[in-house]
Amino acid sequence: MTETPGSTKTFRRRRALLGYLSVIAVTAVATALIVSLLANIAKRKAEGERVAFSVVDLDETIDDPAVWGRNFPRQYDGYLRTVDIERTRHGGSEAFQKIDEFPVWRDLFAGYAFGIDYREERGHAYMLSDQRETERVKVVRQPGACLHCHASIIPAYRKAGLERGAPGELTDPFDSDTARQQLMKGFEAVCAMTYDDATTLVEHPVSCVDCHDPVSMRLRVTRPGFLNGIQALAESNDPVPHFPSIERWRVGDRSEPYDPNAMASRHEMRSMSCGQCHVEYYFKGSGKLLVYPWHNGLKMEQLEEYYETAGTDGAPFKDWTHTLTGAPMLKAQHPEFELWSQGIHARAGVSCADCHMPYMREGAIKITDHHIRSPLLNAARACGTCHGASETEMIARAQVIQDRTANLMKRGEDATFDLLSAIVDAVKGGATDARLADARRMHRRAQWRLDFIAAENSMGFHADQEAARILGEAIDYARQGEVMMAHLNAARGIDLPP
Ligand code: HEC
Ligand code: HEC
Ligand code: HEC
Ligand code: HEC
Ligand code: HEC
Repeated sequence: MTETPGSTKTFRRRRALLGYLSVIAVTAVATALIVSLLANIAKRKAEGERVAFSVVDLDETIDDPAVWGRNFPRQYDGYLRTVDIERTRHGGSEAFQKIDEFPVWRDLFAGYAFGIDYREERGHAYMLSDQRETERVKVVRQPGACLHCHASIIPAYRKAGLERGAPGELTDPFDSDTARQQLMKGFEAVCAMTYDDATTLVEHPVSCVDCHDPVSMRLRVTRPGFLNGIQALAESNDPVPHFPSIERWRVGDRSEPYDPNAMASRHEMRSMSCGQCHVEYYFKGSGKLLVYPWHNGLKMEQLEEYYETAGTDGAPFKDWTHTLTGAPMLKAQHPEFELWSQGIHARAGVSCADCHMPYMREGAIKITDHHIRSPLLNAARACGTCHGASETEMIARAQVIQDRTANLMKRGEDATFDLLSAIVDAVKGGATDARLADARRMHRRAQWRLDFIAAENSMGFHADQEAARILGEAIDYARQGEVMMAHLNAARGIDLPP
């Protein structure tokens, strides 16, 4: 029997065929949809990974961050936001006058430029203008060495080196031998210039080229003071468990000096790039060469020990002579890198950038926040990556440490001021230099410790117990000196207060 159209069987077959066709059609459409969705996801992902849209070719000569910003608009945007001003309980970026807020420091700095103008620091955007405008530069003659940490200065150093006969071209890669010779020769020359002459060589605050390789964007350190300092540290015996590449270099054959750009891990660089400037320093000799005093290690008393023989002919180095006590004094400067090195976070491998430049999402893209500032303005991201507690709780934990440090510091200020007054009284009473020598030594020691924590900008947070230890020693030395003066005055028949 032949099949006739319209028969039930034919109808069923047709229906089956139609069914197949529609399944195929639906499948095709669905497949097309899935494929296009996958393609879309892949595209988004690629966009996410492609943080850079290369618009300009960058090289070693470009210190203008706006030019880099054309390739990396998101990071540049964060960088620009360092102009923001916001105060926190113990920090932030409002440039208030510290010696008005804490007047005891006028006396503690008597005879030194810091007794004239000393402000709370603020964002990176201001570093060059703030330095040009401080009374410390206007009233006192300062050297070109000041600029090392306040400007994008690497191209200027290299130009100065080339002008003085260093080999090669300005475009030579930073790690080449010729570039290094240009850098070091220019660094020495600019340090020795007057501030007014040197500051005409630079235009921008710290910029992209100071922390990044212009071709690979790899993190790097460029500051000569840091390159020399970290080499000296590597050659010391001070344990640095937070810098495994130094520990490795020490047990190697040491045929080449330690070089962070070749040997440090990306993670170590996330702290070293900040250690280029957030460190204790002094100017060595008549050439005013900038030196980081890490030859014995990074701890407060290892820096002090270095200074004990860093003056002319191996005498103790001094930043100034205190006009009230006659003591040869040391001034501590922002030892963030050194104090952080003694803390639990460094020990646990937490870098400066982890807290001060946390990752952030922008759409599908994860970037490093270049708005460098107090992490307490941003605790959810700055602490939340590692700590489960709420933002309020994390701020509270930091503030407990800071309040304790501030209270102990106040006692340190009082104790040091009392010693200062006791020495002033003894001087008035006609005490000889020989009689005063021990108490002056106590003044130097006590105030170096007090200032180490006062000048450090985290109010103890970067290494809380270390900060308390240092302040404890400050108070002890100050009171020891005071007791010496009390004995001296008693021996001389001067009445003590009842
Ligand atoms: C575990 C997190 C953490 C790490 C790691 C860390 N910091 Fe901090 N830092 C803080 C906190 C919290 C403060 C206090 C901010 C405040 O009081 O507003 C602070 C304060 C500062 C300040 C002063 C900021 C201000 O607003 O006044 C500077 C400068 C600074 N840190 C630099 C560094 C450097 C350089 C390193 C690495 C050598 C480092 N920090 C490592 C958390 C961290
Ligand atoms: C080793 C790097 C380094 C050198 C060298 C350096 N500074 Fe700074 N300076 C910093 C850092 C880091 C800060 C921010 C932290 C702070 O204020 O404690 C700062 C802050 C400042 C500020 C703003 C806060 C304040 O103290 O009023 C001024 C002004 C300043 N420096 C002037 C100078 C002068 C003048 C010199 C030369 C005598 C100099 N700096 C040399 C790193 C440096
Ligand atoms: C070229 C030197 C230099 C480098 C490199 C540098 N800083 Fe600074 N930083 C400064 C100076 C100078 C200031 C103070 C500027 C002022 O007060 O005008 C400052 C200020 C700060 C502040 C205070 C900001 C505020 O809002 O109060 C923080 C936090 C900070 N730096 C953290 C870092 C971290 C983290 C790194 C590394 C990723 C770093 N800095 C690298 C020189 C430097
Ligand atoms: C004080 C040092 C410092 C300066 C100045 C700086 N950066 Fe960065 N930058 C960092 C650090 C730290 C990272 C994180 C790198 C890492 O972990 O490998 C980073 C990461 C980056 C990345 C990689 C992608 C990302 O977001 O993690 C880009 C791109 C970048 N920076 C661009 C810039 C540009 C553009 C400028 C100038 C406007 C600039 N940076 C200035 C320290 C700096
Ligand atoms: C990259 C991870 C990381 C980040 C970011 C981080 N921490 Fe921590 N924090 C740690 C680790 C690890 C420890 C040590 C805990 C341990 O091993 O027991 C620690 C310890 C602490 C402690 C105890 C300190 C002590 O002396 O015992 C406090 C307080 C603290 N963190 C506060 C903060 C605050 C506030 C922030 C943000 C500004 C922060 N942390 C950011 C990892 C981090």
